[in-house]
Amino acid sequence: MKIIAVANQRMGVGKTAITLSLGMALSERGLRILMVDLDPQAALSAACGVEEAQGASLANVLGGSGPGTVEMRDILKEVYPGHNCYLAPADLELTLSELGLNFRIGRESVLEKALETVSKEFDLAVLDCPSALGMLAVNALNSAQAVLIPTRPEIADLRSIELFLTVLERIKKEINPDLETLGVLVTYYNRELGPHKAAIKAMREAGLPLLEVGIEEGDHEIEDQLSEMSRPIDIPGDPRTRTQLAKLVEQWLAGWRTWQPSITES
Ligand SMILES: Nc1ncnc2c1ncn2[C@@H]1O[C@H](COP(=O)(O)OP(=O)(O)O)[C@@H](O)[C@H]1O
Ligand SMILES: [Mg+2]
Repeated sequence: MKIIAVANQRMGVGKTAITLSLGMALSERGLRILMVDLDPQAALSAACGVEEAQGASLANVLGGSGPGTVEMRDILKEVYPGHNCYLAPADLELTLSELGLNFRIGRESVLEKALETVSKEFDLAVLDCPSALGMLAVNALNSAQAVLIPTRPEIADLRSIELFLTVLERIKKEINPDLETLGVLVTYYNRELGPHKAAIKAMREAGLPLLEVGIEEGDHEIEDQLSEMSRPIDIPGDPRTRTQLAKLVEQWLAGWRTWQPSITES
């Protein structure tokens, strides 16, 4: 099982929407997918119809200052019938887990060990990270082989991403030298807006590894579609983007060490 973390400490950049779209798109394409909700706000879980996972969430698997009491395998929920797409749900209790983890020996590898117990059952795990740089995010970045970084096309986000990339370098240096940056994925893009274009230009000039594929701003709330679960979820905007994104991940899965994120020219 390979592991991709969808991460950025900024809130509302589309991490959860991308995790879900990617999970569903790749499971439709035949991969066995595990989506992991690492956010105590549990937006991904709610989107998948798990409103409260009390007693059977990632919090119970990870534990806190002491080990967890539940096996990873026992909390998994099938969320996309007919496809191999499962969810490890979150719960508000994850906040307490995170606090406790700070005092735990081996605290950075707790998630990695939990994921190992199900690694034969899945091809890919997609980790929906919380919008913060605490122990949960560190655990995600320590267990992942690659990180996908969604961002809004705004100047304020440039600084935020630079900070995030600095943290990534530290993670690589200290605990996970093999972590690859899949790329920075621009979301909520509106081609009519000059400031968006200017921000993307500035991001490119700053040397950020922008991906060729970007996600446009959509006008619908993703949650609305999710509760129904009647049809596959599209990332808001151009539906083709979802496929492009899935192909990009497949390319990474196939190309492993030779991966080079390409930088958009237009
Ligand atoms: N490209 C997009 N265009 C419009 N709305 C979007 C887009 N991507 C996500 N959203 C919506 O924006 C909100 C925040 O997205 P979310 O994925 O929860 O961000 P994060 O997980 O980074 O906090 C959600 O309501 C989601 O449905
Ligand atoms: Mg989220």
